[in-house]
Amino acid sequence: MSRPIGIFDSGYGGLTVFRSIAKLLPQYDYVYLGDNARAPYGNRSFDTVHQYTLECVEWFFRMGCPLVILACNTASAKALRTIQQHDLPRIAPEKRVLGVIRPTAEVIGSYTGTNSVGVLGTKGTINSGSYEIEINKFFPEITVHQLACPMWVPLVEYGEYKTEGADFFVRKYLDELLTKAPDIDTILLACTHYPLLTGLIEKHLPAGVKTISQGPIVADSLADYLQRHPELEQAITRTGSMRFYTTDDTADFDNHASTFFGEKVRSELAVIG
Ligand code: DGL
Repeated sequence: MSRPIGIFDSGYGGLTVFRSIAKLLPQYDYVYLGDNARAPYGNRSFDTVHQYTLECVEWFFRMGCPLVILACNTASAKALRTIQQHDLPRIAPEKRVLGVIRPTAEVIGSYTGTNSVGVLGTKGTINSGSYEIEINKFFPEITVHQLACPMWVPLVEYGEYKTEGADFFVRKYLDELLTKAPDIDTILLACTHYPLLTGLIEKHLPAGVKTISQGPIVADSLADYLQRHPELEQAITRTGSMRFYTTDDTADFDNHASTFFGEKVRSELAVIG
């Protein structure tokens, strides 16, 4: 029986993270799930994001996954801690669920020279304050300036991320952030959709300000985690397979997915709950 690594997102965005993980660690089996039927998660309450994420984590466990990565910032910010501390000990104490916030917070100090970092994400991620809390655990000297960019996910979802409309909303949020904190030298794209806007974002940034996408950071962190946890690593099967699931229309998923994943995918329908 296959025991793959589970990669979860509210929709397509986590494919940008999965892409980096599959490139770095191609030997493992993987199952990706996008909860497209209930996306976006970005504006939903703590309770709702927790409930949806937990249902999906339970689905991954039924699929045989010993390890699940929440490749979604909103789910990592609003559901991960409760799942790790409250749900896992009850439902599957031997399994592990990891997120994307801590691995990013651990390394961000090596990117900034001014100790002033911008964090852009969904309303849910930003309002949770998770990035500020986690970054300051590792780097108390860093000032974190956060801003929610609620228009960016819909622009990417609707394929409008290279248009004049996208250009307007990219400039709008960047201006707001950099006017508030002109000493920012590093901007973290703390949402799985934002790497698709990197070209436009970089066009509007002053020289010397760089962006960070999370895919390669999360992939490196996972490789390190598996090395430090050999018993878990050995529980994962290794035939290099990748299966894609969505809770909504599979044809729609397949049409969008290649933009995020960089190659064509064929998804299957997942029935949650
Ligand atoms: N994947 C989510 C994130 O990284 C963004 C999309 C959503 O709002 O569901 O925060």
